[in-house]
Amino acid sequence: MAATQSPSERPSESPSESGLDTRLRDTALFVRQAFRTFRATGAVAPSGPALAHSLTRFIDEREDPDAPLSILEAGAGTGPVSRAIAAHMRPGDTVDLVESNAEFADYLRGLLDTDPDLAAVGDRAKVHQCLVHEMGPDRRYDVIISGLPFANFTAEEVRGILEYYFSVLRPGGHLSFFGYLYTKQVKAVIAPREDYLRQARSSWVVEEWVNRYGIDTVRVLPNLPPAWIHHLRKPLDD
Ligand SMILES: C[S@@+](CC[C@H](N)C(=O)[O-])C[C@H]1O[C@@H](n2cnc3c(N)ncnc32)[C@H](O)[C@@H]1O
Repeated sequence: MAATQSPSERPSESPSESGLDTRLRDTALFVRQAFRTFRATGAVAPSGPALAHSLTRFIDEREDPDAPLSILEAGAGTGPVSRAIAAHMRPGDTVDLVESNAEFADYLRGLLDTDPDLAAVGDRAKVHQCLVHEMGPDRRYDVIISGLPFANFTAEEVRGILEYYFSVLRPGGHLSFFGYLYTKQVKAVIAPREDYLRQARSSWVVEEWVNRYGIDTVRVLPNLPPAWIHHLRKPLDD
């Protein structure tokens, strides 16, 4: 069930609202939810424009420029990456925006009407309020962009999610996901030993997949916090 939003949390329909107003409103909602559910939210602020833009790389770089793409965004939050995805989509492309948090999902549905980039693809975008693996096996995507906070998950959870992504990714399709620089080093100093070990184990699973399927890793320094992105490609014969 979608939670009720206060008027300040509801996306505004005012055409005079500036980009700065929008970002402040997104950030306020994001920070409130991060306090309530830090394990699932896994960040202190929504992704910035540079990170969002870099995550859309394989919407631009397509093998067949005439073939529409089917896109999945997992963990859309307040929609900074969803907006970038929408801005890079071409005619015929479709996107599923998946978000487990009911307040964020409700907010994203509002953005499909009020945000100029998302409204422009509103008939080809759908918000799903569920855990990403609950989307089920009967789907196929060319591009998956994941914002899930793997650093907060157990190794088994990370493996399950990566397996799900690769089960619904078309051969030759791309998965891009991000995390934050130096989280392991910071946790080594401030986190309880158990939490540090849990994160070390989940990062080994990420490393295993990157070693198998990784095609590029980039750093995005102008983001709070600075981030890395791994780009993976599913082999044609997998
Ligand atoms: C680090 S935030 C990223 C939000 C947004 N993409 C951004 O870049 O600002 C992670 C998001 O993933 C959502 N989430 C966590 N686990 C999830 C799951 N298993 N399935 C779908 N969404 C999930 C959280 O509610 C949160 O909104």
